[in-house]
Amino acid sequence: MKERRLAMDARDVLRTKRDGGELSPEEIDAFITGYSRGEIPDYVASALLMGIFQVGMAEGELAYWTRAMLNSGARLDLEGIEGPFVDKHSTGGVGDKVSLPLAPALAACGVRVPMVSGRGLGHTGGTLDKLESIEGFTTELALDDLRRVLESAGAVFGAQTADLVPADKKLYALRDATGLVESLPLIASSILSKKLAEGLDALVLDVKFGSGAFLGDAERGTELARAMLSIARSFELPTTVYQTSMEAPLGRAVGHALEIEETIACLNGGGPRDLRELVTTFGGELLAAVRRAPDRGAGAAAIAASLDDGSALTRFATIVELQGGDRRSVLEVDLPRAPHEHAFEAAGSGVLGFADCRAIGLAVCALGGGRRVPEDRIDPAVGIVWERTAGDPVRAGDLLARVHHRDGRGLDEALAHLASGVHFDASDRSPLVLKRLEA
Ligand code: URA
Repeated sequence: MKERRLAMDARDVLRTKRDGGELSPEEIDAFITGYSRGEIPDYVASALLMGIFQVGMAEGELAYWTRAMLNSGARLDLEGIEGPFVDKHSTGGVGDKVSLPLAPALAACGVRVPMVSGRGLGHTGGTLDKLESIEGFTTELALDDLRRVLESAGAVFGAQTADLVPADKKLYALRDATGLVESLPLIASSILSKKLAEGLDALVLDVKFGSGAFLGDAERGTELARAMLSIARSFELPTTVYQTSMEAPLGRAVGHALEIEETIACLNGGGPRDLRELVTTFGGELLAAVRRAPDRGAGAAAIAASLDDGSALTRFATIVELQGGDRRSVLEVDLPRAPHEHAFEAAGSGVLGFADCRAIGLAVCALGGGRRVPEDRIDPAVGIVWERTAGDPVRAGDLLARVHHRDGRGLDEALAHLASGVHFDASDRSPLVLKRLEA
């Protein structure tokens, strides 16, 4: 009886959106609260999400929706911990490991990073899964543990807890089950509600474009960026969006433990140039935003110094230790390794380019290093390390990449993906950073 009455109330909300209208704050509160408590059934909620997918949301409506999501659970309690608190979020891409060196580098520069991250699904890997390739590393931390690690190490990597924006957890699962993930207002509110729950003083959002990105074209990325910036403005959270290229894998390594190895190289002052560029750019932006650097350039130089002098690496080792791992895994690069390697060679001559960066992510999935459904187990050791990068001249037969596999599992499928993912007549490359937008 109770469910029926609430479902009928929810029908008025559905009608508003169905007819292209804006939901009122009361309607939004009733929906988010009722759904979070299990009082509104999934079939009603999915009808409303479909309406939002089709009709969109006005600016004020989106801000209120995000506020209601945020209010559905607890926030990180930062009372008594010295800030400032900053974070960065990426819409994800192939080989995107920027958060991993960035958080300890920022901590080494004197700011705190309460980083609540996600897992990989489909062709992109997740920050948490990559970290869990370090033996013993745990990311399923209660709010008190997140706080403890943040206070001691200056940065923490955690999964969304059951009490942090529970409305998002439920709505995201429903969107995933109903083909409604790719709605710009729903993506924007999902990302921002979690970042707002962290109690931040500044935020950088990396919205990727290109064939390896979640949103392929740059214009949809700009729309998403604007939606997120409008939410950030209404919460007075200083936020900058960078639109960056995912036309080619980021760095050389794609695969969980291999990406941790590349992270360690970056934290040792080395590693690929594009990875270091994004780490220093985003870090510089955040240090300037919270006035720990006079401007972005000086901030970037401070981040670069923390990579070069070992202080960021030491922070990373401390985070690993506090989250259940052994600091020697990082300092001595003791990580899982797949038992076999296959040389992927150039099938033609010319200039290497990536025809389809998503295919590179799918190749790693085929090897066992990805999830097709959330329950899948990942093999952390498999993956690909590129010996050549986009724009390099190559000749037929040259070694392009080393494929790390386990007893040939998925190797043929992976090689087919790799073959379809590259070409040999690359001309101009898209710039690594396309745009910078501020709230
Ligand atoms: N990441 C999120 O956290 N939420 C979305 O809706 C999409 C990507």
